[in-house]
Amino acid sequence: MSEEIVARRGTPTSEILDENGGRKRSTAQRRWRILAKALTGSQEPITADRDDQVSVRRFTSFDLLEIDRLENAPDDPDYGWHEYSAILENKPFSVQIRRIKKSFTANELIGFNNTGNVCVWPSEECLAYYLLKNREICRERRVLELGGGMSCLAGVIAAKYCDPSGVTVTDGNVTSVDNVRCIVARNGMADFVQCRVVQWAKAATALRRATQARAFGHTHPNGLRVKSWTGSGNDVANNVLESLYDVILCADCLFFDEARSDLVETIYGCLANDGLALVMAPRRGSTFQKFAEAAVKRGFIARQIDRYDGKIWSRHLELLERSQEYCPDLHYPILLELTKQKRTPPG
Ligand SMILES: C[S@@+](CC[C@H](N)C(=O)[O-])C[C@H]1O[C@@H](n2cnc3c(N)ncnc32)[C@H](O)[C@@H]1O
Repeated sequence: MSEEIVARRGTPTSEILDENGGRKRSTAQRRWRILAKALTGSQEPITADRDDQVSVRRFTSFDLLEIDRLENAPDDPDYGWHEYSAILENKPFSVQIRRIKKSFTANELIGFNNTGNVCVWPSEECLAYYLLKNREICRERRVLELGGGMSCLAGVIAAKYCDPSGVTVTDGNVTSVDNVRCIVARNGMADFVQCRVVQWAKAATALRRATQARAFGHTHPNGLRVKSWTGSGNDVANNVLESLYDVILCADCLFFDEARSDLVETIYGCLANDGLALVMAPRRGSTFQKFAEAAVKRGFIARQIDRYDGKIWSRHLELLERSQEYCPDLHYPILLELTKQKRTPPG
């Protein structure tokens, strides 16, 4: 994955093998190649398959939702509007999604991870589809999406079709969140769905502080209340976590080694005691496993489900048989359900 490399700036690897050309490239060359790809808005995202290899990611979707370009959408060279739709049990479902195809400023590229602006990743697609098929999960629940990228497709679908009591969609990247705001407005949900910049390190720090404050008896009557725990800029004033969430969604965010414990802490701190986190991600080497282990260490009960949907599973089997580009380790999203361990009262 392109930004996996950016996320691993400290990796001492100096030379790598490019599977396309077989030439060795330095980490810097590799990074610039990725940035160049992002700058030119290529439809073929680059992926870092392993620590030492880079390849063009040709597999992009399980085709669970139909995607149609919206002809009547505002004309903009930097963005394209698409309708994502499905018919399930004879019922039509559709949301309009704006995808970013613009060039990024140097600040945007260097400032924060941009993988969420490259495309809607298959894990997000699978999570969105899974929610459509299991709409009761979010019914009358407070829903939070973390790391939703430029579409927050799962959160947006949950807001539109799953009858939640509230939805907050987030990402650490300001450009992604600005885009999601446009999506939410175009789908007529601006007064219902909150869009926030949430960076896990900042959130985790604030949540840890709040836990300590609670330990010293400074509780807020509504539960958790943490101020200014998110990104910088306009959002700060609004970024107040008023309460805990019953359902947390997170797709393809487990490969950031340095952010793993902050993401675990953010999910733990934001999830209500009887809540459920749905974390969807490919195995990607040992990254899924490491995240699951960190979650258990933090106090979650983790349930890994490989076969969570019949259609997704059969697509996976078809792809295994027919597609040369499909690599399950990189592309097949596994579902990790996280719930909190019940605390037994003392005595
Ligand atoms: C591979 S993308 C997945 C985006 C989206 N969920 C999808 O599947 O299309 C990973 C996302 O994690 C976000 N991210 C990475 N590190 C983060 C951090 N420390 N705090 C908050 N978000 C982060 C990125 O901005 C990006 O949108």
